[in-house]
Amino acid sequence: MNQEFYRIPIAAIHKPIKEAVTLSFQIPDELLPVFKFHPGQHLCFRFDVNNKEELRMYSLHNSPYVKGLFQVTVKIQKNGLISNYIADNLKAGDIVEISTPQGDFTVNPDEKAGKSYYLFAAGSGITPIYSMLSSILLAEPNSRVFLLYGNRSIPEILFYNELLEWQAKYPDRLKITQTLSKRFLDFSLAPWDGKRGRINEELVESFLLENPATPENTEYYICGPDGMNQMVSDTLIDMGVPSKFIHFEYFSTQAIEYEEGLTAVENALVDAAIRNEKFQLHLVQDETILEGLKRIGAPAPYFCQGGICGTCKAHLIEGEVKMKATMALSAEDVKNNIILTCQSLAQTAKVKIEFK
Ligand code: FES
Repeated sequence: MNQEFYRIPIAAIHKPIKEAVTLSFQIPDELLPVFKFHPGQHLCFRFDVNNKEELRMYSLHNSPYVKGLFQVTVKIQKNGLISNYIADNLKAGDIVEISTPQGDFTVNPDEKAGKSYYLFAAGSGITPIYSMLSSILLAEPNSRVFLLYGNRSIPEILFYNELLEWQAKYPDRLKITQTLSKRFLDFSLAPWDGKRGRINEELVESFLLENPATPENTEYYICGPDGMNQMVSDTLIDMGVPSKFIHFEYFSTQAIEYEEGLTAVENALVDAAIRNEKFQLHLVQDETILEGLKRIGAPAPYFCQGGICGTCKAHLIEGEVKMKATMALSAEDVKNNIILTCQSLAQTAKVKIEFK
């Protein structure tokens, strides 16, 4: 896992809607091999604001099948320190520090595959989903895409026109269902033939009934606030979808909820395998497993240290842990005993883990 940051110039900056800003980057030719990405991956940005390092993850929303394009779109949050910093201060030509593409919430188009993809997005959760949608349409010609996309109002819809263009270009392969939750404000001003209300169980069920899935070769990708991810995933499982076909990524429009007051057992022994090396340490009081590994200089992979990016995932082989936050874990991860080491406090005298 590459944790290096590169100083990259902003090639262009614009506001696709009032409350979002899009940054385009020109990656130097010599860095293109390490900036190769899969649809759905994100970049980690390092900012220095008020003399404090701030890390943020933003998904690349364009398709890697359109060469030379690297774009992220950031929703401007009312009290968001970094989103407002970006909107108010950055301009074309400025240098920002960014990581290489990260994350395993991805699709890997295969031109021979014939699959159905059901994509669920709310708000700026559309950004990785948009990269997936355009990549599948461009690079997997026998596959179909069904998108359920929720927003509050028409002016807040990211990629509104672009989605209409994809729909017009691929009418037999793309079906888009949109829903708006602030209906009374909008429908008198502009016609709306989409759904009304938030994405909820009924809407997910009716979306699936209107667009029946075939049991084989069907994948489900969800990106929205944590509650929505869980609700869509649970609804799909209730409808008989095996959890291994359900993938989701967390994004938050507000502060992340961490479980407070968790403690660790004293002096727990950690046995960790990182690539082919073995490390052993005793955790000091209420230290997370990742903090302990960093303290002894073990090369454990990590990035955000906030339970968001999933870079620090490891397989729990022995013992028990409690995690302060788990939003970066999929249902499949939980089933397979995958933990976020940056959030894990040991609950047994010995914990054995292996990094991917
Ligand atoms: S380092 Fe990002 S989730 Fe642990």
